[in-house]
Amino acid sequence: MARRKKVYEGKAKIMYEGPEPGTLVQYFKDDATAFNAEKRATIEGKGVLNNRLSEFFMTGLNAIGVPTHFIKRLNMREQLIRQVEIIPLEVIVRNFAAGSMAKRLGMDEGTALPRPIIEFSYKDDALGDPLVPEEYIIAFGWASQQDLDDIVALALRVNDFMSGVMFGVGIKLVDFKIEIGRIWDGEFMRLVVADEISPDSCRLWDIETGAHLDKDVFRRDLGNLTDAYTEVARRLGVMPTNVTHTPKPTLIN
Ligand code: TMP
Ligand code: ASP
Repeated sequence: MARRKKVYEGKAKIMYEGPEPGTLVQYFKDDATAFNAEKRATIEGKGVLNNRLSEFFMTGLNAIGVPTHFIKRLNMREQLIRQVEIIPLEVIVRNFAAGSMAKRLGMDEGTALPRPIIEFSYKDDALGDPLVPEEYIIAFGWASQQDLDDIVALALRVNDFMSGVMFGVGIKLVDFKIEIGRIWDGEFMRLVVADEISPDSCRLWDIETGAHLDKDVFRRDLGNLTDAYTEVARRLGVMPTNVTHTPKPTLIN
């Protein structure tokens, strides 16, 4: 029986060796976790939706010249990606106060921020992904000052793109998290957007009703997570049912 090598398994995704060197297959699971995996569930259909949505956002970013790891979608749950060296940081961009920022500063969720605010968490589950200042990042060698400047520029471009796309379908992009990877081309290095961009890693609020259309539905027990993600996919026109694979036969006279 054919078997492929599992390279890494995380909480929501599995990476397999890809068909060519420098590629990986990224498989989206239905598993959801919150609060550093204290809360867990399997939510049928989440993986399929996130695979589609991440494809949609990454393809759009590639098209406007923001480099990402995404190559192509392979099937309902898998996509082909460039293998990258992940920088061990969660890069968080906030447009409105919510979540941990609202809690830390005692702000009302939804308060508009004076400008997009970028913060970094050190990716370490055992430590609960602690917030870290740039000083730590540079001193401990996780990234250089030049890398950080490039990461901020990338994050702001992703923010503008995502905010605009979401606004177009009546959704406010409150905040989001991205991860950045390094790709080596001989002695030269490029930074690209990696991991995933999906309602698992964004806060998305309906502009009219304020309804949560993201993983807070699961974190805060606000209803059915698949329904929320399906609504995002429907508005963006990326519902699997919207895709015609086999055109109907046409009668030739
Ligand atoms: P926070 O307000 O809980 O710090 O979350 C900020 C953003 O980052 C929010 O859009 C959710 C996302 N996020 C992740 O993608 N992964 C995580 O582990 C956490 C804590 C947040
Ligand atoms: N990454 C966090 C966890 O595993 C989940 C989150 O709140 O997004 O628990």
